[in-house]
Amino acid sequence: MGGRRWQRDDVSEMAHRIVAIDGPAASGKTTLARRLAQHFQLEFLDTGLLYRAVARRLIEAGQRFEDAAAAEAAARAITLAELDPAKLRSEAISQGASRVAVIPAVRAALLELQRTLGRVGRGAVLVGRDIGTVVRPDATHKIYVTASVEERATRRFKELQARGVPAIYEQVLAELCQRDARDRSRAVAPLVPADDAFILDSSNRDADATFEIARAIVAAAPRGQPGTAAGPTPIRQEQP
Ligand code: DC
Repeated sequence: MGGRRWQRDDVSEMAHRIVAIDGPAASGKTTLARRLAQHFQLEFLDTGLLYRAVARRLIEAGQRFEDAAAAEAAARAITLAELDPAKLRSEAISQGASRVAVIPAVRAALLELQRTLGRVGRGAVLVGRDIGTVVRPDATHKIYVTASVEERATRRFKELQARGVPAIYEQVLAELCQRDARDRSRAVAPLVPADDAFILDSSNRDADATFEIARAIVAAAPRGQPGTAAGPTPIRQEQP
């Protein structure tokens, strides 16, 4: 699976690819985005880690997630060095990240950091909730990864079990629904597919099949440019 490996000569062609991957929690978007970045030798940024790092700072300082001034100060202090996924995975941090993400000043503080990436000559894959709509509306390729909430809860539940973290399916499902609702309904940069995003439903596909579709999209020429040897002109919406 995965098609041919990207060759040296193709790298310059990829230099200006900015790939925006958005979608709800536990849709598999981060695993997919990381795999795309590796495959095409692009920079990678998981923007959810920025919001998670803000939540973690607030927890450690004993501050409330709703304290806008404290949350903004935490957001301004974030450095790339503290974005260790292993330290930012807990459910308390997940919910906290979603809560600080509704604060406009937090979003504004994190925006520049996200935009800096991909402006240094190499292309990048950015993954989050508002990459294709707000952070990089100019992205050359946009994919919105989704799956039914039950499927996402099942995956998250199995992942927790595999890590030896005690979990109850109904609770995982309820927490996902809560986070989805908050992420979709916030006033600033809500979770919504960009008009020009390819909607990729991973409900009935395994990770390899999902990757294969995304790989073909990213290998194709950006919209408005003729197709290249790298692949077909992208389809914008998934075929039924
Ligand atoms: O992708 P994730 O589960 O690590 O994101 C955690 C939370 O951060 C998510 O519930 C909402 C917020 N977030 C956001 O608002 N915008 C982003 N670009 C990324 C994450």
